[in-house]
Amino acid sequence: MNVHSQLIHSLEARYYTDPAHFEREKDGLLARTWQFAGHASLLQKPGDYFTIDIAGESIVCLKDREGVLRAYFNVCQHRAHQLVQGEGNTKLLVCPYHSWTYELTGGLRSGPNVKSVPGFDRNQICLSTVQIEDFCGFLFVNLDPNAKPMDAWFPNVREELRSFVPHIDRLQPLE
Ligand code: FES
Repeated sequence: MNVHSQLIHSLEARYYTDPAHFEREKDGLLARTWQFAGHASLLQKPGDYFTIDIAGESIVCLKDREGVLRAYFNVCQHRAHQLVQGEGNTKLLVCPYHSWTYELTGGLRSGPNVKSVPGFDRNQICLSTVQIEDFCGFLFVNLDPNAKPMDAWFPNVREELRSFVPHIDRLQPLE
């Protein structure tokens, strides 16, 4: 027997295609670990955003006006319509259903007739946040609000990558 054949371990093919397995991973692995969302070059300017689906959830990643990276569940707090699609640049997040409008920092800015609703306090309403990190130019999100930072998950990896590629944070995809 070839000695190397004893050292090869790989998942059976069904783990990549079995819908039941995917359903289990949506609540486990995918919902609690850092997942690659996109390259940081997608969010260069304030207002840049892109969306991504992870574990069956639509997430919007953006750079706010102060240059802070943010990620939210891409769901309006009014009637749960999807807020934005694809990628682009925007000053505000406007829900296409009834025009509730959110700041890039997640807070509700305005909505038709909200002032006429007794007791309505727009300051109490904001988009649900998702953790986001820039890891050497690669953006990762974690749906678990209690997840530890990536440096705790992968100690010294950031430094190790930079030792191999000192300008890794400034690299951009060409094509
Ligand atoms: S669902 Fe978004 S404004 Fe109504």
